[in-house]
Amino acid sequence: MRRACVIGWPIEHSRSPAIHGYWLNRYGIDGSYTKEAVQPGRLEGFLRLLATNGYRGCNVTIPYKEDALHLVDEADETATAIGAANTLWLEDGRLFATNTDAYGYMAYLAARAPNWQRRDAPVAILGAGGAARAIVHGFLEAGVSEIRIMNRTRDRADALALNFGRRVKVKDWSERSAAARDAAVLVNTTAVGLKGEGELGIDFAGFHPECIVSDIVYVPLETALMRDARQHGLKTVDGLGMLLHQAVPGFEKWFGVRPEVTPELYERIAAGIVEAR
Ligand code: ATR
Repeated sequence: MRRACVIGWPIEHSRSPAIHGYWLNRYGIDGSYTKEAVQPGRLEGFLRLLATNGYRGCNVTIPYKEDALHLVDEADETATAIGAANTLWLEDGRLFATNTDAYGYMAYLAARAPNWQRRDAPVAILGAGGAARAIVHGFLEAGVSEIRIMNRTRDRADALALNFGRRVKVKDWSERSAAARDAAVLVNTTAVGLKGEGELGIDFAGFHPECIVSDIVYVPLETALMRDARQHGLKTVDGLGMLLHQAVPGFEKWFGVRPEVTPELYERIAAGIVEAR
């Protein structure tokens, strides 16, 4: 039996087992995907015993994505550029790492809004944490000419911009609405809006009618930011699709089949989110 898992601390709320479990069942694979709670300080030991414990690899979630990058034998260019790893796999006894968050975000954006790149317009990003780094990397790879970062703590945005080069610009948090008005895509990468908490304070008046507003928060499925954007006639993209798509490359590495993100999978995971609220 092929085995993989997701590691984090805490890990109870991870939806990854439901996603991979759906695919294992759908493709009739003799495999398992479980949750492993790894206590602080135990990450290195856990990874060293991955093969001994019968795993072909694992997903890594909060708070270990940055640490994992430095504990593997080889991290690919994507994980290195993002500064974090979320997907690990064993090959000939060596542990490899990549980061599939940028892929997941861009794949879902392309599926839901295939024309997002039609205008040569900047992309506006709220937040400058780990999730923002992945999404900046995704947009840079897609060839956008300007990315504007707005973060509550300006220094963090400046550090991120410095790291990614001249196409990434920083605007003050107080300018976030004005800086996003002509954007092709506005993305919230902060946790604001999670479980209905907090308010990003974006004023959608005067936004370009083709601006796509996306949120990586997926609880609730439609965040306050998305609702507000929709009420202003803007197209929105939810955060759940990113979660589903980021799981695809890992499943393929561990179980040998490139799985499909189907409407049925989306509905199943969405139902779990609605139930949990
Ligand atoms: P992640 O890895 O999920 O991106 P993170 O690295 O902790 O998490 O980053 C969280 C992001 O959400 C940061 O950009 C943070 O802003 P600060 O750098 O100013 O802390 C942002 N954030 C969290 N709470 C916020 C709030 N109430 N208002 C605005 N931004 C907030």
